[in-house]
Amino acid sequence: MYFKEIHLKNFRNYKNENIVFHKKINILTGMNAQGKTNLLESLYIMSLGKSFRTNKDREMIGFKQKYCSAKAEYVKEKRESNIEIAIGNEGKSIKINGVRIEKNIELLENIYIVIFSPEDLKIIKDEPEKRRKFIDRELCQLKPVYYRNLGRYKKILIQRNTLLKQERPEEAMLEVWDKALAEYGSKIIIERQGFLEKINRISEDLHFNITNGKEKLELIYEPVVPSMGDWEKTELQFLERLRKERKVDIQRGNTGSGPHKDDMKVCINGVDARQYGSQGQQRTAALSLKLAEIKLIKEEKEDDAILLLDDVLSELDEERQQFLINTLSDVQLFITTSETGKNLLKSLKEGYLFVIKQGRVEKRFDIKGL
Ligand SMILES: Nc1ncnc2c1ncn2[C@@H]1O[C@H](COP(=O)(O)OP(=O)(O)OP(=O)(O)O)[C@@H](O)[C@H]1O
Ligand SMILES: [Mg+2]
Repeated sequence: MYFKEIHLKNFRNYKNENIVFHKKINILTGMNAQGKTNLLESLYIMSLGKSFRTNKDREMIGFKQKYCSAKAEYVKEKRESNIEIAIGNEGKSIKINGVRIEKNIELLENIYIVIFSPEDLKIIKDEPEKRRKFIDRELCQLKPVYYRNLGRYKKILIQRNTLLKQERPEEAMLEVWDKALAEYGSKIIIERQGFLEKINRISEDLHFNITNGKEKLELIYEPVVPSMGDWEKTELQFLERLRKERKVDIQRGNTGSGPHKDDMKVCINGVDARQYGSQGQQRTAALSLKLAEIKLIKEEKEDDAILLLDDVLSELDEERQQFLINTLSDVQLFITTSETGKNLLKSLKEGYLFVIKQGRVEKRFDIKGL
């Protein structure tokens, strides 16, 4: 799968721009604050219908404009299609091949995107929320039903928490929310468990190769409410837990247990990498995780994801850079960098180099000709 071109209108600092991509490697260079990450964002929204930078769609509308749109032409299984996302004051509309979809969920399973930014390099060290996001983003792309269940779980959690904050919450009402929370929460736990097993197997293999056999990477799911194998048993256990902790939850005014508190432990050679890993080890582990995401999509969907690398390549040493480029020879890459990356260019056989300036492609070079 690859993007052929994108048309941007009032999208962040792009006024009206049509950009044709290379099917393999696209390097976006330019000074700071010119629109490199904005362009990646416009591609990213084609996968989940929302940005990786903000939950507020309207932030993507150009300053002083009333609406924005991004229309991407892409090729999947040799067929050309397009997705158009428009955002205005009334909200967002998404069209696939000109037909408007009713729900965001219908967008899934069209385009798979993995994004790797400096933020992700810290995933091992960061707070649990970042690791949950890593799991959720990938699972949402792999399984639309997960996307739906997660959305429902989050809504129910907000409602339950609102009730918990009331003066004297009604027990019967709480019981209703508890049941709903346990129902969707258990489905999330089961899916996360399964996902962790798969991503663990793949990333262990990749990490072993990147480190020349020196390190064994291990990912361990750490749910607050453990998975019991099937979702009915997990649901029951979750419900009992909620009932048991209801008093404390009321005192605290929010829900203490559930997948919204889950974490993922990362071990290198049997030792917790969060506590004991060196910065280099943590970064390499993050790289293994990202590459594993792409490989898992390939396994499950028999399709190549598109990889967006935002300012991250220059953060990796040359050996890691080469490993990444070589491992991903089938994948369409978008690489932003504020340096020219001469060493990188030398090692590439094909692709385009874009110079981005003030929300425009100022120049485009064919790498072969450089
Ligand atoms: N909604 C918007 N409308 C117009 N311009 C915007 C909007 N949102 C952000 N910008 C502008 O886009 C610019 C930042 O673009 P972007 O994040 O793509 O930069 P970049 O080229 O990736 O830079 P860096 O190398 O520093 O990461 C800023 O100048 C910002 O003011
Ligand atoms: Mg940027």
